Amino acid sequence: MLDYDDEAAHYDRTRGGRPRALAAASAISGLLPARASIVLDLGGGTGAVATELTTPERTVLVADASVGMLRLAAKRVDGRCAQVDATVMPFRDASVDAVVCVWLFHLLTESDVAAIVAATARVLRSGGVLVTTVDKRDASPSTDIATALAPLRPYRSTATDATATIDALTARHGLRRTGTATFTGVGQGWTPLGIIDDVDGRYSAAPDSMRSAVIRALSGLPDPERPRADPVYTLVRYTKDV
Ligand SMILES: C[S@@+](CC[C@H](N)C(=O)[O-])C[C@H]1O[C@@H](n2cnc3c(N)ncnc32)[C@H](O)[C@@H]1O
Repeated sequence: MLDYDDEAAHYDRTRGGRPRALAAASAISGLLPARASIVLDLGGGTGAVATELTTPERTVLVADASVGMLRLAAKRVDGRCAQVDATVMPFRDASVDAVVCVWLFHLLTESDVAAIVAATARVLRSGGVLVTTVDKRDASPSTDIATALAPLRPYRSTATDATATIDALTARHGLRRTGTATFTGVGQGWTPLGIIDDVDGRYSAAPDSMRSAVIRALSGLPDPERPRADPVYTLVRYTKDV
């Protein structure tokens, strides 16, 4: 995982800034129950999404492990933020209406995701919801880069934010899948050059010859520094049984 204390200074600029945060917040809002007044933005980072989710009727608390990210969040959400390890979640049982996780689960081990889902089920009120991104790495399906990478797909390890994984973990704790939405990752389009740098790390299980062939294919794509289409990310809502 990146060191988010270091990343904080560049984070908003490189993750689509306000347009991306607005797109995410708008999609999340559509999945929140109208009565949701206390929302926990887990792994909420710089608070870019939380500030767009906040309304006079809805308080959003940013919980994150990184002090550097929280320093920026504190300014945005008037100090409504806390340094928290999401696997522990030091909040009272049945105390929040919604837990939001944008781009968190894919960074973690499956056992950490399992711990977070269990803790989420504990802190949610009956009828409360978990809204999380899933399948992050599949968000750019139709670009020439994805086509070039296709031979390596069988060598990917299972993603910890895979829908099937989150479905199974949530079901153990009485959380049922009740909705989905998407948002555009403004400014998040892949470039051939950026992906070439990642091929060896992401697909280390693939044969060397296959990785080399894919890197050659990526090197042959036009406009290597031009970002391809903005990815579209998927959000899933899970509702705690009443
Ligand atoms: C990719 S950023 C997403 C930030 C924010 N959700 C957004 O959409 O801009 C991931 C965030 O998760 C935080 N994080 C990673 N592991 C965590 C953990 N165990 N507990 C709390 N936060 C964590 C990082 O510090 C970082 O701020």
